[in-house]
Amino acid sequence: MIELLMPVRLSDAVIDGLSSRYRLHRLWEAPDAEALLEEIAPRVRAIVTSAGILANGAVLRIDGPFMARFPKLELVANLGVGYDTVDAAWAAAHGIIVTNTPDVLTEETADTAFGLLLNTVRQFPAAERYLRAGQWLQAPFPLTATLRGRRLGILGLGRIGKAIARRAEAFGLTIAYCGRSPQAGVAYAYFATPRALAKACDILLVAAPGGDQTRHLVDADVLEALGPDGFLINIARGSLIDEAALIAALRSQAIAGAGLDVFAREPEVPADLLACDNAVLLPHLGSATHATRLAMAELLIENVDAWATGGEPLTRVSECVLAPLPEQ
Ligand code: GLV
Repeated sequence: MIELLMPVRLSDAVIDGLSSRYRLHRLWEAPDAEALLEEIAPRVRAIVTSAGILANGAVLRIDGPFMARFPKLELVANLGVGYDTVDAAWAAAHGIIVTNTPDVLTEETADTAFGLLLNTVRQFPAAERYLRAGQWLQAPFPLTATLRGRRLGILGLGRIGKAIARRAEAFGLTIAYCGRSPQAGVAYAYFATPRALAKACDILLVAAPGGDQTRHLVDADVLEALGPDGFLINIARGSLIDEAALIAALRSQAIAGAGLDVFAREPEVPADLLACDNAVLLPHLGSATHATRLAMAELLIENVDAWATGGEPLTRVSECVLAPLPEQ
């Protein structure tokens, strides 16, 4: 039986779907994780993973030194579209395939992003707390900012960014974007830097991949450019934002507000951020519905099955895409 390692607990759909056909080692259940790794390392051929915290409290990283412990490793299957906890470049250089679960979660995550955007600008969560606290009996809830006539800047116009843009068009927002380069066939205004995009928009929405290359793309300078009427929305990864600079900007009202679905060290959220009334905070809900999480589980299992039967996994990450064969 092919042996797989699961370092952090994934959903029952993933566990049940895999354990009937593979020998699945559950690292989070091991009384001595190190001893288990030592024992199974020579036999493990695939790691099934997602962003998470290990039983010892450390952030899970499937990096070069970790993968190098498994001499027979061929596949790292990631549950989720973002795979910033996996060193895919190292894997590709060592002939290890990395897969993720794109597409099946695009529309769900865009719904979450747009809901968060509306809740942040129109302050619906605060308004609901106000009603429940009986304060409406004393006075109406204060008026809020509006989406009317606003410009949305999308940092990272990938599949999810584009799905958000489609929703924003229906709401009458003007759209601009920033990425590594302008995209052919995209009519939205392009800005080459996050600062230039922030300066040109009222709502800056972060939808770029996480990882070392995008770390703290949104810093104090970008927040200053967004300005006191500006809102920041992040549905990508906490690492993209300098969280300390964001807390300072929220406190001093250097920006109007923020809507965050992701944080630097999940599931911990800094107390200073919890104390900011002008922030709407969600516990990383991007793709978190029964239907979409099931679709992600199924895609992950299809990737593992395809690899295990000598076929081609459906969704390799870009670092691991095979170069096309030269034309004869
Ligand atoms: C969720 O954060 C994902 O990367 O799919």
